[in-house]
Amino acid sequence: MHRGTRGNPLGRALNKAMASPMGGALLEELGRHSRESYVHSLQVARIALTLNRELGLNLGQRRIAEAGVYHDVGKMIVPRFILHKEGRPTGEEFDVIKFHPEAGRDLLAQSGSWMRFPKTTLAAAYLHHAPRYPAGTAEQLNAGTTEAKVSKLMTIADIIGAMRQKRSYKDPAPWNVVIDTLRSGIERGEIDPVLGNRTLRLLRGYDLRDSIDRDMARMERYADRQGVQEAPATRDRRAGFEWFVPPINSIAKEVITNWRNRFYRTMQRSRALVRARRSRILEQLRNTR
Ligand SMILES: [Fe+2]
Ligand SMILES: [Fe+2]
Repeated sequence: MHRGTRGNPLGRALNKAMASPMGGALLEELGRHSRESYVHSLQVARIALTLNRELGLNLGQRRIAEAGVYHDVGKMIVPRFILHKEGRPTGEEFDVIKFHPEAGRDLLAQSGSWMRFPKTTLAAAYLHHAPRYPAGTAEQLNAGTTEAKVSKLMTIADIIGAMRQKRSYKDPAPWNVVIDTLRSGIERGEIDPVLGNRTLRLLRGYDLRDSIDRDMARMERYADRQGVQEAPATRDRRAGFEWFVPPINSIAKEVITNWRNRFYRTMQRSRALVRARRSRILEQLRNTR
């Protein structure tokens, strides 16, 4: 089942997807912001490639590789302290996490004036959490277009990749937990039932699980060899916490600045909420005394 990838650890489709100057720059920035997100992006691309082949979907390996590699570039606007947080994010932090599909699409759409990312890449960035996050509409997702199909495949690859990855704040989930999560995702209507059930059937055997685990380890080693390292955080005075500011090309910078402003507003709102909550509690304490 497994073709040798000696000398070419990524495989041809992945290699090509990462070779464009703008794409390469975006990925590099993502790695400087969060190494785990960089590795995750490659792993999701790899898993999606495997599923596309094993399920006989014929969605095009190059297209899948590109959609996978760039699906989470929007994570660049999510501060590290939220991205790498141990335990559950607060409601407000989760609001910020939910920005990443839209931010990712913006970044891809506005990066590079001469080189355009394909429609499927933008769609996968925007729709890979749909309909769970408020990005994309049911019509977009159920349009039966190639973009919708690629996005739905990406949702599955994303869940598998995220759960099986060892991160600074968590160990990989056991395969049976991953399978249960996929199953309940199908039940809740968050995963395409046809694609989801076919994937579950494939995952009953250990071959696919082992091959996914091997590929994921390979992507981790690739990041090591590339020397992907997080840049030191700089103190962002406006936000009042450590945050690496990506020095990316001018167009992407504009996108990031826009998103960062949106982020400040959310956090300010959340701080105002916390202050209000705290004073309400203090008030109650005073009254009960
Ligand atoms: Fe995501
Ligand atoms: Fe992801």
